[in-house]
Amino acid sequence: MRVLPSPLYFPLVLIAVFPKALGQGILSVTSPSGTIQGGKCPSSGASRFLGIPYAEPPVGSLRFKAPKPYSAGYNGTFQATTAAASCIQFGPLLFEEAGPSSEDCLTVDIWVPPTASPSSQLPVKAWVFGGAGVAGGISDPLYDGCNLASDSIVVSINYRVGPLGFLSLPSAGIQGNMAVQDVILGLEWIQTNIASFGGDPRKVLVFGQANGAELFSCIQKISTNALNASIPVGTTTGGDNEFYVTRFDFLVDGNTIPAQPADVGTNVPAIFGWTLEEGTLYVLPNFPFPPTVANYSTFLVQNFGAFAQQINQTYPLSKFSSLQFPVYSAMVVILTDYTSICRAYRALSTASKKGIPSFTYVWGKEPSCSWYSAIEDNPEVLQLLGATHTSEIPFVFNNTVNLPGPNGTCSFTDFEKSLATDIVQAYTSMAMIGTPNGISSLNWPAFSNSTQYHSSTNNIVNHQFYSSAPQHAAECLRESRKYIHSIRYRTSFLHSAYNLC
Ligand SMILES: *[C@@H]1O[C@H](CO)[C@@H](O)[C@H](O)[C@H]1NC(C)=O
Ligand SMILES: *[C@@H]1O[C@H](CO)[C@@H](O)[C@H](O)[C@H]1NC(C)=O
Ligand SMILES: *[C@@H]1O[C@H](CO)[C@@H](O)[C@H](O)[C@H]1NC(C)=O
Ligand SMILES: *[C@@H]1O[C@H](CO)[C@@H](O)[C@H](O)[C@H]1NC(C)=O
Ligand SMILES: *[C@@H]1O[C@H](CO)[C@@H](O)[C@H](O)[C@H]1NC(C)=O
Ligand SMILES: *[C@@H]1O[C@H](CO)[C@@H](O)[C@H](O)[C@H]1NC(C)=O
Ligand SMILES: *[C@@H]1O[C@H](CO)[C@@H](O)[C@H](O)[C@H]1NC(C)=O
Repeated sequence: MRVLPSPLYFPLVLIAVFPKALGQGILSVTSPSGTIQGGKCPSSGASRFLGIPYAEPPVGSLRFKAPKPYSAGYNGTFQATTAAASCIQFGPLLFEEAGPSSEDCLTVDIWVPPTASPSSQLPVKAWVFGGAGVAGGISDPLYDGCNLASDSIVVSINYRVGPLGFLSLPSAGIQGNMAVQDVILGLEWIQTNIASFGGDPRKVLVFGQANGAELFSCIQKISTNALNASIPVGTTTGGDNEFYVTRFDFLVDGNTIPAQPADVGTNVPAIFGWTLEEGTLYVLPNFPFPPTVANYSTFLVQNFGAFAQQINQTYPLSKFSSLQFPVYSAMVVILTDYTSICRAYRALSTASKKGIPSFTYVWGKEPSCSWYSAIEDNPEVLQLLGATHTSEIPFVFNNTVNLPGPNGTCSFTDFEKSLATDIVQAYTSMAMIGTPNGISSLNWPAFSNSTQYHSSTNNIVNHQFYSSAPQHAAECLRESRKYIHSIRYRTSFLHSAYNLC
């Protein structure tokens, strides 16, 4: 998550859009392309505008191209009342969207509090969903902004995923990072348009979860079904494959991404957080429970290949022998370290060296009921998952009832609801003034490399960085292997795509 640097970075063009009907919130906005008509949230006083295009559809000759700003007219009124299609995704995948999907998907959703007016200058929270670069979309009920848009405007940005978002093949004119450029164009759209919805473009918080010319014209023309069939799928038995996803990822291309982000660090105040048991979500579906000692070796080899032995030495099972499920815990700790803690620690250290205020949390509260449709509402499963990867999202979105959304039967406890209030207010404060300590009751100290221990009575800020050396070792391995995998998947995608032409 990060906050946009300043209005200078995204030049303001505030004159472009003018609001129309005002009063109890904003339901209709007039833009150069025509009127945008929204609707009321069913369960709160907020209003919502769904599926507004911010870019030309990235189809036909625009497939694999940088997004182009939306320029067509709406032919009168744009009815922003239907859930947006997700960008097409080639599953089956863990976070694959169930609803409609399309290549024509570059849209934003906007939720507006009832207090909004053209002069309200509310802070803005811009959501970038996760899904490992291969799945996800703004219409997922998990990201419904109706309960979050109480003190701020909420915007979510759809972006291309999988090869359509990340394939890089310069010799074919495919530069990569399409998805990154989608998000940047979405943020520019916010700069231009959000004042009309009652937002202040200077107070934008970006938050997220968590990728031959002949060939080019050929793969522009082939069907998405054919593209789908050509994509290698990650397996649980494939030697040194990463076992949980096919990776499509960002590229340091010297252009859209000028340098390695991990080296450069953030230039604006930021929060880097994680959940206590990130790794459970990847271990539970991929191994029998409880996993066996033999499974541990498989796990090490699948994830670390030639480096398996080194990781084995850093995380020997004997370190976990006092726990009820030693192999399970070892796998979870390794995945949590290398997917989350190491990266956060590195980002925080870099920010600290640069004198940029940054903040960290470990989300330690395991949701008391199923918050995502793919997760069984079974107490044993919920307990094993614990505070797993992305389990803080329902709190961050203040979606605490009718879980999983939209019509589930679970409700969070009062304590969980109070955690949601804390984190929502902390993020609103971050959007307004660049620190989570403005309007929330939390006392959330900025990270510093000498006082790394933050304690708190709630379950949000309670982490002590323990000895970091093994984590750094794991992260370095992780980063280099990820690079190797990205290249390999791109290459095999290329070969199978050639076969189609
Ligand atoms: C614009 O809308 C009118 C009716 O409202 C319709 O007759 C016309 O075909 C539309 N044009 C386009 C390009 O969709
Ligand atoms: C892609 O193929 C898989 C089967 O391999 C299928 O389940 C999925 O629905 C397909 N997705 C699309 C978008 O065609
Ligand atoms: C886990 O180990 C058991 C036996 O120890 C084996 O039957 C099973 O196939 C293994 N599963 C994986 C995913 O490696
Ligand atoms: C990990 O270490 C244990 C204990 O030394 C050993 O039995 C096992 O084969 C090792 N596994 C791998 C993948 O190195
Ligand atoms: C959820 O409930 C609302 C109102 O009761 C209904 O309109 C909607 O179709 C339901 N959605 C799903 C996915 O069941
Ligand atoms: C969270 O949502 C509840 C409704 O479920 C609402 O009463 C409350 O004001 C919201 N809290 C915040 C901080 O937006
Ligand atoms: C910790 O911060 C001090 C200055 O506050 C700096 O000199 C030192 O290099 C930092 N150490 C690390 C490991 O970041």
